[in-house]
Amino acid sequence: MRVLVTGGAGYIGSHTLLELMGQGHEVCVLDSYINSSKEVLNRVRTLSNGHLTDHEGDVRHTAALDRAMDDFAPDAVIHFAGLKAVGESEEDPLGYYDVNVGGTLGLLKAMDRVGCGKIIFSSSATVYGEPVYLPYDEAHPTQPTSVYGRTKLMAENVLTDWAKANPQKTAVLLRYFNPVGSHPSAQIGEDPSDIPNNLMPFIAQVAVGKRSHLSIFGDDYDTPDGTGQRDYIHVVDLARAHVMALDYAASHQGARPFNIGTGQNYSVKEMVSAFEKACGKQIPTKVTPRRAGDIASMLADASRAKAEIGWSATHTLDDMTASTWAWQSTNPNGYD
Ligand code: NAD
Ligand code: UFG
Repeated sequence: MRVLVTGGAGYIGSHTLLELMGQGHEVCVLDSYINSSKEVLNRVRTLSNGHLTDHEGDVRHTAALDRAMDDFAPDAVIHFAGLKAVGESEEDPLGYYDVNVGGTLGLLKAMDRVGCGKIIFSSSATVYGEPVYLPYDEAHPTQPTSVYGRTKLMAENVLTDWAKANPQKTAVLLRYFNPVGSHPSAQIGEDPSDIPNNLMPFIAQVAVGKRSHLSIFGDDYDTPDGTGQRDYIHVVDLARAHVMALDYAASHQGARPFNIGTGQNYSVKEMVSAFEKACGKQIPTKVTPRRAGDIASMLADASRAKAEIGWSATHTLDDMTASTWAWQSTNPNGYD
């Protein structure tokens, strides 16, 4: 298939490019590089030994979208481009709605113009909000607790209505849990441009000496060791899910959400111990108050993805920590 990948230079996008190219798909990236580096694409080209085209542009700009659609004529789109920092979304709600919802709307209009009717969308487990029960299945109520989560849910609704209005269209809504880890080559990985918001890149920067210690955001949750639990998923497993979702989209119509997680969760303290094992160093930690808006535990029921897409996670926690360390220790300054 000819696949246009918005946000393809980002963390999840870059890993997905390699999986797509490995499966023989023709790929074109549309990215503004607001949170990524063009160097990523050079590394993907070298690793895949393949042909990759790219357009620099913003998904909010009609001209950029039309140029990419006309030049590449995609059969399907994978839509990663978006803003993802929960805290920042509370301070800049309009910016987040503009990119995450407005960008999706503009993308669909551009797809309609060239008759492209299949899209795989990067949604998030944050659409569920405070658990009514765990593990979350796709029928769990959706009551996101952040602006970020609401932008993702709103984009899901736009995609669902778009698919409903035309029975030939397909929107696969992938609700990611917590992606971590890196490509086995250690040539591509997560490269936060600022102080990391997320646990794993923060631990990795402590291990490499860039930060003095990890702040554990609360140890008084109702969990076995008091720290927050998440369903961490290896980014290569997540990337594979997109390739399998494309196969699913080729023979299905309509909009459908899928949880992409492992069905196993780990606490912050368990993640620290696992990372210490991988890097052979001690990670200094300090317990601080809870982070506003955090949930005690998240856990995926990923049985629908297994039954309908044929996808399930194959990487272990050790794979996640070892590959993160391999990337961070060989690229201490990311792509710089
Ligand atoms: P990322 O920031 O590494 O990648 C996003 C990419 O989109 C970047 O290359 C960025 O430059 C690009 N981009 C941002 N705004 C753009 C715009 N207006 N026009 C064109 N390009 C733009 O993030 P990621 O972790 O790879 O996440 C990819 C997607 O997955 C996002 O939509 C995010 O919300 C979603 N997601 C991420 C996580 C996570 O924990 N990483 C979890 C759930 C969902
Ligand atoms: N945590 C710390 N210290 C840190 C960072 C995080 O203790 O410095 C804790 C958090 O309190 C939480 C756990 O580590 O208990 C995971 O936090 P992350 O920030 O890594 O991940 P979140 O679950 O908060 O959110 C992430 C992404 C969202 C995505 C969601 C999907 O940031 O974009 O996973 O589950 F939607």
